[in-house]
Amino acid sequence: MQIAIDGPSSAGKSTVAKLVATELNFIYCDTGAMYRAATVLAQQNQLDYGDEEQILALLKQATIKFQPAKTGQLVFLDDQDVTLKIRTPEITNNVSQVSALPKIREELVRQQRSIASGNNIVMDGRDIGTTVLPDAELKVFLIASANERARRRFEENITKGIQTPLAKLQEEIELRDYKDSHRRVSPLTKADDAVEIDSTHLSIEEVTQAIVKLANERK
Ligand code: C5P
Repeated sequence: MQIAIDGPSSAGKSTVAKLVATELNFIYCDTGAMYRAATVLAQQNQLDYGDEEQILALLKQATIKFQPAKTGQLVFLDDQDVTLKIRTPEITNNVSQVSALPKIREELVRQQRSIASGNNIVMDGRDIGTTVLPDAELKVFLIASANERARRRFEENITKGIQTPLAKLQEEIELRDYKDSHRRVSPLTKADDAVEIDSTHLSIEEVTQAIVKLANERK
């Protein structure tokens, strides 16, 4: 069974997707982490974030791996643990430029389909229901107001010692939403057959249980 969870930045997709995967005993794939890892490759090699050919060449040589850990999931770029690096503001604010490059998307979509093949999987991102897994048995489009998403990111940042004003976070979230929804290739859109869940006034547990219930109904 394949479960696709798409939606705008900071709507809680990965938190919920991880919990749904644990509850159903499915594997979990965070596709945003893969675009972020590609952005780290560009940064570490001092490439322009729009240099499609060079980033692609590096991406084809590198391996992005996920490793389960007590603290969640670790992300490796070859042998380098990039779990923290992929969440830094430099990467967050430039990932939309890298993810808009058609050849980078083509390569990562190929890797994502290969991870999904033959597995019970929960995959979260922007184009999972529309492009990566169009035949997924369950597609969820998870949204929340920009203000609530900024508030959640603010709280999360405080626990990590990052101090960015709430208004700036909301501005960054809205800018990333705009870029992700207006790019030419696989823009963020709700699949026709996706179930929309608005998490603005729901807890993580409520959203998780709503998705688990839908999954059990479709098994
Ligand atoms: O989900 P997360 O915020 O970590 O994703 C980071 C970025 O990766 C998004 O803003 C988007 O530009 C890109 N992305 C994408 N397609 C996906 C997942 C993420 O374009 N399936």
